[in-house]
Amino acid sequence: MNKVLVTGGCGYIGSHTIVDLIDHGFEVVCVDSLVNSDLKPLEGIKAITGKSISHYTLDLCDKEGTQKIFEEHPDISGVIHFAALKRVGESVNKPLWYYNNNLNSLLNILDCMKTFGVKHFIFSSSCSVYGNTNVLPVTEDTPMEPAESPYAATKQIGEMIIQDFSKVNPAVQSILLRYFNPAGAHESALIGESSTNKSTNLVPVITETAVGHREKTVVFGTDYDTRDGSCIRDYIHVMDIANAHTKALQYLMGNKNNENCEVYNLGIGEGVTVLEAIHAFEKVSGLKLNYELGPRRAGDVVSIYANYKKAADQLGWDPEKSIDDIMRTAWAWEQKRSAVVR
Ligand code: NAD
Ligand code: WQD
Repeated sequence: MNKVLVTGGCGYIGSHTIVDLIDHGFEVVCVDSLVNSDLKPLEGIKAITGKSISHYTLDLCDKEGTQKIFEEHPDISGVIHFAALKRVGESVNKPLWYYNNNLNSLLNILDCMKTFGVKHFIFSSSCSVYGNTNVLPVTEDTPMEPAESPYAATKQIGEMIIQDFSKVNPAVQSILLRYFNPAGAHESALIGESSTNKSTNLVPVITETAVGHREKTVVFGTDYDTRDGSCIRDYIHVMDIANAHTKALQYLMGNKNNENCEVYNLGIGEGVTVLEAIHAFEKVSGLKLNYELGPRRAGDVVSIYANYKKAADQLGWDPEKSIDDIMRTAWAWEQKRSAVVR
């Protein structure tokens, strides 16, 4: 059985990916510092898959601790590296924390992969590497504009580190996955977005408003040059994102890659406005959301969505879920989570 180390596996995308990996026959070892999570997703994973996950609570900036994991699991054949701090606004106020955490953890992981002869590496990148681009839809060749935040800079620099590493370490084959706007939850509602720090992303804001944990949802800007004046994003279901990791790993393990380091966009290729997202939520939940039209949020790009043809053609990845699926599963998760918390 192929054993995979999943860093940040207690987090949102990591926990959903572990489920998909197990569904496809992989054995998983998880490591997470719990800086933005707790151990509950591992219970959810067990309830869904019937499998207990081997887990280490460790900050990957601890090089010796990281090495020990590789020593204890000499049969790891791949690493999926989700672990990172991800809050854009927070990164503006605490840049050193972000650069230290996101880059030193990456350096330690790559060093261990080289030392312990682990061949396959998947990195969580982000559409934020494109910066404030005017080219739509965005392809992998769309030139990167300057990073809009220290968080985005850690993704641009992280990609550069992996590209440079790949040039001189051909034994390690890497894939950089640039996610657009991941949202939604597993169909079981046993795992979902559950950051221990409050989320500022649109979909959790909507579901938290509907469940009564927030007074209202504010639409950030209604005077943009879009079809209804609000910003456009490419919302992609978290289980579609999860499956792309399994496909990327299988692709590398099947020696199907052409380059030592390849890059893929993960979106559904469709732009949805903030107001359309709210209306999709209202449709699937049957509720009227308490929202108001507000001013623009500093730093928002007007519109961004992906061309994902490369992932479709090369990885055989085909996202299946729509904005309605995202809202339906996010809402089921929010209701279940709130019932437990109360
Ligand atoms: P998340 O915060 O839910 O998960 C990240 C996990 O990594 C958390 O459980 C956190 O505790 C852990 N972690 C952070 N630093 C660590 C360290 N030094 N050592 C060990 N564990 C550490 O975030 P997510 O939404 O699941 O995102 C996963 C990855 O995808 C991140 O790299 C993020 O930057 C990237 N990404 C996320 C989005 C998004 O909107 N969610 C979009 C694009 C890219
Ligand atoms: C989506 C849209 C807001 C909240 C962020 C990161 C990006 C990537 C994905 C990690 C925007 C609007 C939001 C609210 C609103 N993450 N909105 N009211 O900003 O597109 O991307 O997550 O890599 O790097 O920047 O996502 O969910 O915050 O916003 O109107 O209360 O919803 O203005 O148009 P964003 P988001």
